[in-house]
Amino acid sequence: MKTVGLTYDLKTDYVFKDGDPQDANAEFDSSSTVEVVVNAIEANGYKIKRIGNIKKLLEEIDNLGVDIVFNISEGYEGRNRESQVPIFLELYNIPFVGSDALTLGITLDKIIAKKIFISEGINTPKFFEVRSLNNLNTILNTNHRTFPMIVKPRFEGSSKGLSSNSRVKNEKELKRQVELIINTYKQPALVEEFITGQEFTVAIVGNDPPEVFPVVQVEIDGRVELGEEFYTFAHLHSDRLKYLCPASISKELEASIKEQALRTYKAVECRDFGRVDIRVDKEGQLYILEINPLPSLSTEDVFMLISKAIGTTYEKMVGRIIEVALKRYNEGCPHV
Ligand SMILES: Nc1ncnc2c1ncn2[C@@H]1O[C@H](COP(=O)(O)OP(=O)(O)OP(=O)(O)O)[C@@H](O)[C@H]1O
Ligand SMILES: [Mg+2]
Repeated sequence: MKTVGLTYDLKTDYVFKDGDPQDANAEFDSSSTVEVVVNAIEANGYKIKRIGNIKKLLEEIDNLGVDIVFNISEGYEGRNRESQVPIFLELYNIPFVGSDALTLGITLDKIIAKKIFISEGINTPKFFEVRSLNNLNTILNTNHRTFPMIVKPRFEGSSKGLSSNSRVKNEKELKRQVELIINTYKQPALVEEFITGQEFTVAIVGNDPPEVFPVVQVEIDGRVELGEEFYTFAHLHSDRLKYLCPASISKELEASIKEQALRTYKAVECRDFGRVDIRVDKEGQLYILEINPLPSLSTEDVFMLISKAIGTTYEKMVGRIIEVALKRYNEGCPHV
């Protein structure tokens, strides 16, 4: 019987520092999510070893005693934080499920990811970066300045730093929001054109070839035409947001969303599993917002929903993710 180690960061392990925003531990998992993943791994006939966070991993790394690690650790600090666990696993030659340090780094940093999308001809909202309020005016003079725009932290996930104020309609609101991102999240602000329309997220599992699952549509307040609305930290914790699967869209739109999601997955060399966030405007133009090579496996998130929609179980979905990772290691080119 193979043993699967599980690396993860628990919300309760996060020690809040002075000046931390209230959503500082938003990316970390609740113990209920960890237990759901543990049960799913065991249901596939594997023995489980709960490892925990990077500190626990480093204490035990010489004698881990596992065949493969299922990594859902978000890591600590900076744009390379998701790469911390994978880089040590790679150093110690321990096989692991999911994308490697390189892919996690270039996707967590949304600006680097967008540069890759652009170079691959993948459509993504127009953007500029603001590192300091001092150069905002110069930036505004040299870039498109069509409002509304959305202001996000350059390298956060789980909707951190996003509230209804993030959609800005004029320069005054833009300045306020850029200042908040720089001061609170200690990182550059990513300013994008705001795409009004519908939103989708697409889960993908596997490598050669990856399997693209049915498109999931975001509904807010009972509407799929989202207008000014978007997915925020506050929505995540309310019942205003719902995921619909399958999405009620035309076959053509479903096909092009899936195609663009797959291109994105391949462009950043995602492996084993991932989730792509996409918006479609009124004219039917697709925009890739981001790719998450470490998507949430929580019961409220899309993997559970898709499993039900395609008539399988969450446990089987997790089993499939482990299988494709094991297959990758058995096929001789485990690192890409
Ligand atoms: N350019 C945009 N136009 C319209 N809405 C946007 C845009 N960028 C982001 N959003 C909204 O903000 C949400 C969060 O943005 P994004 O996916 O980039 O951040 P995230 O925090 O990494 O997300 P996740 O919660 O998936 O980890 C999106 O799901 C979407 O609703
Ligand atoms: Mg997202």
